Amino acid sequence: MTLASRYLGLDLKTPLIASASPLTLELDNIRALEDHGAGAVVLPSIFEEQLDAESDEYARLAAACADSVAGAQNHFLAPSLYRTGTHRYLETLRQARAAVDIPVIASLNGVTSAGWTSYARDLEQAGASAIELNVFFIPADLAVTGPEVEARYRHVLRAVKSAVAIPVAIKLSPYFSAPGAMVRSLDDAGADGCVLFNRFYQPDIDLVAMRLLRDLQLSAPTEIRLPLLWIGILAGQVRGSLAASSGVETADEVVKFLLVGADAVMTTSALLRHGVGHMRVLRDGLAAWLDARDATVGDIRGRMSQRRVQDPTAFERANYIRILQGWAGDGP
Ligand SMILES: Cc1cc2nc3c(=O)[nH]c(=O)nc-3n(C[C@H](O)[C@H](O)[C@H](O)COP(=O)(O)O)c2cc1C
Repeated sequence: MTLASRYLGLDLKTPLIASASPLTLELDNIRALEDHGAGAVVLPSIFEEQLDAESDEYARLAAACADSVAGAQNHFLAPSLYRTGTHRYLETLRQARAAVDIPVIASLNGVTSAGWTSYARDLEQAGASAIELNVFFIPADLAVTGPEVEARYRHVLRAVKSAVAIPVAIKLSPYFSAPGAMVRSLDDAGADGCVLFNRFYQPDIDLVAMRLLRDLQLSAPTEIRLPLLWIGILAGQVRGSLAASSGVETADEVVKFLLVGADAVMTTSALLRHGVGHMRVLRDGLAAWLDARDATVGDIRGRMSQRRVQDPTAFERANYIRILQGWAGDGP
């Protein structure tokens, strides 16, 4: 049984990747993640804003999240760690590359291409195995149209691709009118892979204090369904890799994402909840599932993608109608 996979042209010992979060800023965690079976790690994002000033939204979110994450994990989320600074980031990257044999992917988060290209080169020189772009953009300006938002993603991608020779992945939100076409257009624009999906952090309201809450909720396994749908539709239809992100709590979610065609499966919330040792639970669970079927990761990848299932409409509107009608039939 082999767990080997390929992602962004990189050989992975397992398809499991610790996605960007404060956990992967610590060398000890990166080493432990490798020991526990991670195939790669993504460092937390360096923010476009940090290239000029040391301010960022995730630092605030991480601090907010620290309150809601149990005991031992709290220190991972200290804002001081997250407000890391560009030099320290490069240093962490260098040290991480020297410390582990698995690929270390750097992450850039921004909405314009200004300043990114030279920093992308610095990341490459510091030894990044690849770069993941996170275009966290909320088009609150109502004059900005969908096609303009989409063009912005491609613009950022092309700018970074033209600056470096290492692979570049792009992490997307699901909020496009045609996510599949968007992924394909990024694939055509040279993306080495897409990460589906970024989780957006939306505000809530504290009704007692009458103020906006901007806390960060960790994900739940039910959240795999949206990336499951789109990876299932896209598998076999794009040149680049597909990575799943959102809702991976147990090996079951990992297996499901592989079955619909993911090349890599990422996790953050589960690691924040249970600690970096949880990577081993995912790895061993995946290995046990494959062992029981005498299968490899390669054997099962895409077996249940839209192109390979017997009933491809299960991914589309016909299925929706069946579900709604089925619900009415099962009612009291
Ligand atoms: C505390 C925290 C910090 C995060 N920081 C980053 C980040 O710096 N860059 C990024 O692209 N995603 C970041 N994420 C998003 C995760 O990488 C991941 O995409 C998201 O949590 C969904 O995966 P999950 O369901 O496994 O948690 C962060 C998430 C959390 C909870």
